[in-house]
Amino acid sequence: MAAGKGTRMKSSLPKVLHRLAGLPLLEHVLNTARALQARNTVVITGHGAEAVEAALGGAGADTGLQFARQIPQLGTGHAVQQAVPMLADDGVVLVLSGDVPLIQPDTLGALLAACAGQRLALLTIRFADPSGYGRVLRSGEAVQAIVEHKDASEAQRAITEVYSGIMAAPARQLKGWLARLDNSNAQGEFYLTDVVGMAVADGVDVVAHTIDDALQVAGINSPAQLAELERAHQLRTAQALMEHGVRLQDPGRLDVRGTLQCGQDVEIDVNCVFEGRVHLGDGVRIGANCVIANCAIESGAVIQPFTHIDGEKAGVTVGENARVGPFARLRPGAQLGPDVHIGNFVEVKNATLAAGAKANHLAYLGDASVGERVNFGAGSITANYDGVNKHHTVIEADVHVGSNCVLVAPVTLGAGGTVGGGSTITKDTAPGALTVARGKQISVAGWKRPAKKPSQ
Ligand code: UD1
Ligand code: CA
Repeated sequence: MAAGKGTRMKSSLPKVLHRLAGLPLLEHVLNTARALQARNTVVITGHGAEAVEAALGGAGADTGLQFARQIPQLGTGHAVQQAVPMLADDGVVLVLSGDVPLIQPDTLGALLAACAGQRLALLTIRFADPSGYGRVLRSGEAVQAIVEHKDASEAQRAITEVYSGIMAAPARQLKGWLARLDNSNAQGEFYLTDVVGMAVADGVDVVAHTIDDALQVAGINSPAQLAELERAHQLRTAQALMEHGVRLQDPGRLDVRGTLQCGQDVEIDVNCVFEGRVHLGDGVRIGANCVIANCAIESGAVIQPFTHIDGEKAGVTVGENARVGPFARLRPGAQLGPDVHIGNFVEVKNATLAAGAKANHLAYLGDASVGERVNFGAGSITANYDGVNKHHTVIEADVHVGSNCVLVAPVTLGAGGTVGGGSTITKDTAPGALTVARGKQISVAGWKRPAKKPSQ
């Protein structure tokens, strides 16, 4: 169900598209559904339907999704009614909420096992403060009904076992119950929860699978709840990393928005953000305040504070024992070999640096192949763009490029050569040669500076 308005978000973005740990809320739920290998997955959209459907890549084979539109939104029972034509009679229907992102596959697996294709299984939880939720009415152990908070009596409101919003039901029976829902209740809505009473009346077993992990069933209705769930989720991620042996300077100051895979003896200082897919090899150390996305950092490499790495689609690799930062920027296609050094205010994009190459200060290397042990001086750049096309620069092994040089691509610097500081290189240079391309220095002996005229 992803049709609700999310009024309390006070946002033009549909609620289920707000992000938790870098992913839209609804994507979390769909990933969990995928893990269950559902026969088909129907997303019920309504409020902001076009935006939600577009964000999911539309219906079809590649997304594995179908959409049912619910317009207007007349309640959760009405929402599920919209999906009925897409549900096979012989299946089990698992109802999930697009704004309850952290439900886990094993919990749903247990709920499906409790359903066993024939019972109505409800996911429930006990809350010290159950207000707002539907209460689970039991007679003895047997579940009798769910009563919504607004319809509940004082005695019913004292019940602390609540319905999570997640249920599993045999499709054939569910369809029958849905067809009989009405909206004669405090909110004038078609309540999905009314199917519980109908199941009991039909003699179908109703079972509750009760969990105690509130995060898994936490719904999001406001920016404050979103932020709170984000923190709680990040803390869990941090704890899992520490259990794996990762040393976090402060588990409360880590953000993982994607997957972070770590080897042994990894150390991460405070305020680092990891996005997309990031791999950190054995012994990697990440300094404070780094943003690192879509990259592989090999064993022993050190990333100094305030470094920004984003491999986007092309990826970034940082070789073994390389040293990057502080204040460095690695962009898509930066491939650093072992023992490479990238220093402060150095930007690298679509460039390969072989083992031991160094660019320690204030430099730009774009669309370049840099050989082993090359030293690229402060203030030097590859001029890779002529205003229309990008061109490649080749710097062969052991070249020393002095400070403040411009290498106008396409150009090749021959192995072992030296380029004098301040040179603008427009032609290939010979291996082993010193190349200087700048105005010659001259000195005028005894030069008299202009003097001020005496005032009149
Ligand atoms: C629902 C349950 C309540 C449960 C609670 C758990 C009903 C009647 N009540 O209440 O027992 O304790 O969840 O959080 O089901 N939605 C639609 N179309 C609609 C209405 C809602 O798609 O017409 C979607 C919402 O976007 C949301 C989900 O259904 O993802 C739940 O809706 P919400 O309004 O939050 O239900 P509650 O009233 O909180
Ligand atoms: Ca709700």
